[in-house]
Amino acid sequence: MEESYKKLIDGNRVFAMSKKFEDPEYFKKLSLGQRPEYLWIGCSDSRVPANEVTNTESGQIFVHRNIANLVVNTDMNMLSVLEYAVKVLKVKHIIVCGHYGCGGVHAAFSNELHGFVDNWLVNIKNVYHKYKKDLDVIADNEKKIDRLTEFNVIEQVRNLAKTTIVQQEWKERELHVHGWVYGINSGLITDLCVIHDGQDDIEQIFRYNI
Ligand code: CO
Repeated sequence: MEESYKKLIDGNRVFAMSKKFEDPEYFKKLSLGQRPEYLWIGCSDSRVPANEVTNTESGQIFVHRNIANLVVNTDMNMLSVLEYAVKVLKVKHIIVCGHYGCGGVHAAFSNELHGFVDNWLVNIKNVYHKYKKDLDVIADNEKKIDRLTEFNVIEQVRNLAKTTIVQQEWKERELHVHGWVYGINSGLITDLCVIHDGQDDIEQIFRYNI
């Protein structure tokens, strides 16, 4: 236990040294402030780290993560992150990134009790009911869960678009909202093409091809 904890501190020293070696001013520049262009709303899953899977550096992505990458309009944590990202940092893009093999989606799909988290996962159960017709025709359970994962991302993009923060910002400037799914087994991101820029009616602009 102690060993695994120490590994993180050792890893940090390697990180700090190698960054300084590459660019002696690296941390000095970062300390001056942040101007990320992206807000990432992703899953807490340890296998989907925003910077690593997009090959980006510290300072480039503002990040919010929760179980199953949900956008719940009563979630003060998410709304605070969203407001800061949009109003203060003026990010240009908001990305909701789900992932195949998501434990949260799997748990929501099952009828087992998992505890407190089920109250959170009810949001995914609602997505299931909304798309029940599309999902019920898929015989294979894993494929069904994959599709539910995609529908979940689409619904979270829609939830984002409905927030007062995004709606207000759209009156003043361009702000793009995207829905992606990351494949843990491939390392690749799929853009679901749920492009939303506030220019059209919310129902018309969803151009997903899944
Ligand atoms: Co997940």
